Amino acid sequence: MTDNARSHGRKSIKATLKPQELMTDSPLLARAWRAQVITLLPNAFPGVLGESLTGKALKDGLWQLDAIDLRRFGEGKHRNVDDTPAGGGAGMVLRADVMGQAIEHALKDAPKNAPLIYLSPRGKRFDQAMARRLSQAPGVTLICGRFEGLDQRVIDHYGIEEVSLGDFVMTGGEIAAQALIDATVRLIPRVLGNQASTEDESFSDGLLEHPQYTRPATWKGLPIPEILLSGHHGNITDWRQSQAERLTKERRPDLWRAYSAAHGRDPDEDQEL
Ligand SMILES: C[S@@+](CC[C@H](N)C(=O)[O-])C[C@H]1O[C@@H](n2cnc3c(N)ncnc32)[C@H](O)[C@@H]1O
Repeated sequence: MTDNARSHGRKSIKATLKPQELMTDSPLLARAWRAQVITLLPNAFPGVLGESLTGKALKDGLWQLDAIDLRRFGEGKHRNVDDTPAGGGAGMVLRADVMGQAIEHALKDAPKNAPLIYLSPRGKRFDQAMARRLSQAPGVTLICGRFEGLDQRVIDHYGIEEVSLGDFVMTGGEIAAQALIDATVRLIPRVLGNQASTEDESFSDGLLEHPQYTRPATWKGLPIPEILLSGHHGNITDWRQSQAERLTKERRPDLWRAYSAAHGRDPDEDQEL
């Protein structure tokens, strides 16, 4: 057991845990940030979240993941979870009564004040500010849709927040849930070894990140910009800032306008590059 795990109250953990074994149905961890995911594909979890830094943090007890199998709450012998859309039309809709039971089950274990979110293309676009807000909450309960989505009455009854990964339609909410959890968990203190890396990166100060380079000094005849090898930290910081501003202005005029307004700058000003 690591020090991190001890400080978060994990009772016991094997050194050889496989990704699925990192997850638990029972509240073994006190105070750890907790993600609960209601899904028809519980075996898709932890997925990529069980790898690398998020996987290590899961193992160390810095956060906890429960995949709740929606099928358990299904109706009848076949555990049906969906039915045809009222009013007709293509596809199937996740039933309100089935999802309602799964939500009630999840809420019993959810930390107090953990947001309840339905991943949905109609939702508010997920961004870094939302990841930061969620990382400061005690956890989150996520609902993954499938088919044509979820009966609207469930969303209305529980006052569920709808969150979208972007303007495209996937077959289910699982990939969106993993993206949301990954972006959020890496902001929890101690998950990344070097906290400075979340301070400098894209969106942290309203700008896209400057270009990055590493060895070899010349690759296919392309040198690393000389200034980065100068050892002059002040000039390097200024260069990075101007590159971040240039990229943001070129690629994301929306972000650039917001950044300029926040810094009392004219968004059309010429930059010194
Ligand atoms: C095929 S989609 C349903 C799309 C829905 N009929 C619509 O047009 O808005 C099935 C599920 O995938 C998930 N999903 C699809 N695209 C998503 C996105 N961009 N962001 C978040 N979740 C998404 C949602 O959970 C959704 O319920």
